[in-house]
Amino acid sequence: MTVSTKGAREIISFYREAGVDTLVGEEPIDRFADEAPPSTASPPPVPTPKSRGPAPSVTAADGRPLFQAAPVAPETAIMAARQAAKSAATLDALRALLETFEGCMLRATATQLVFADGNPNARVMFVGEAPGRDEDLAGKPFVGRSGKLLDRMMAAIGLDRRQAYIANIVPWRPPGNRTPTPHESAICLPFIHRQIELANPDILVCLGQPSTQTLLHTREGITRTRGRWFKFDTGSREIRALATYHPAFLLRSPLQKRLAWRDFLALQKELAG
Ligand code: URA
Repeated sequence: MTVSTKGAREIISFYREAGVDTLVGEEPIDRFADEAPPSTASPPPVPTPKSRGPAPSVTAADGRPLFQAAPVAPETAIMAARQAAKSAATLDALRALLETFEGCMLRATATQLVFADGNPNARVMFVGEAPGRDEDLAGKPFVGRSGKLLDRMMAAIGLDRRQAYIANIVPWRPPGNRTPTPHESAICLPFIHRQIELANPDILVCLGQPSTQTLLHTREGITRTRGRWFKFDTGSREIRALATYHPAFLLRSPLQKRLAWRDFLALQKELAG
């Protein structure tokens, strides 16, 4: 391997680890340069991700456009998210709202919105953390390796995606699959709350610690909360919620599958009851 090839590999792997995994142009642009070099040729067009629609249409409570020139303050974005989520009367309306919501920076780096999969009329709803690369490309939650495991776990208790509704706390992929910041989760929270209320499942299953802590208002770790039933107020009624391990964790720690299996048996019993 030549030195330059090795160098190129190293920088590419550095980029991948840093979450830079999408090409947006052929030529590098030095954004630290004081002034752009004079150019006679017109710049190449920047490819637009398929879901990035027209210019932002959502405004904050004071009428300011959200996130057009510069990011708005976190509290403003959270307020706008609350108002927008509340205004959605159906799941389709909520999805449409999210398609144009500009208050969360993750939208800018994601390929598209990952809203939900499965049956919105199902009695059970699973909620994970955030989409990964496969989900970002497919536009559906849990389609990658952990999704395949989730499918197998559901199948073990007689469920498939026709009898379950699946979503995430955060509906856009964080760059490089990093954990969503508390602030990003807080902005997305009103939307997932409304999504749960509109889907109106009988049972909510929180997959993993971030989903459990965020939705069930607990600071306890998942090793303590998994297998426990909680009460969850959808906004319209109280339902039961179960915390369990995230399939991605189970892929890394297969020995814990026996505990997840117990949780799924408890879920099966609850659904039968
Ligand atoms: N992990 C999640 O939490 N959600 C997905 O959709 C995929 C992986």
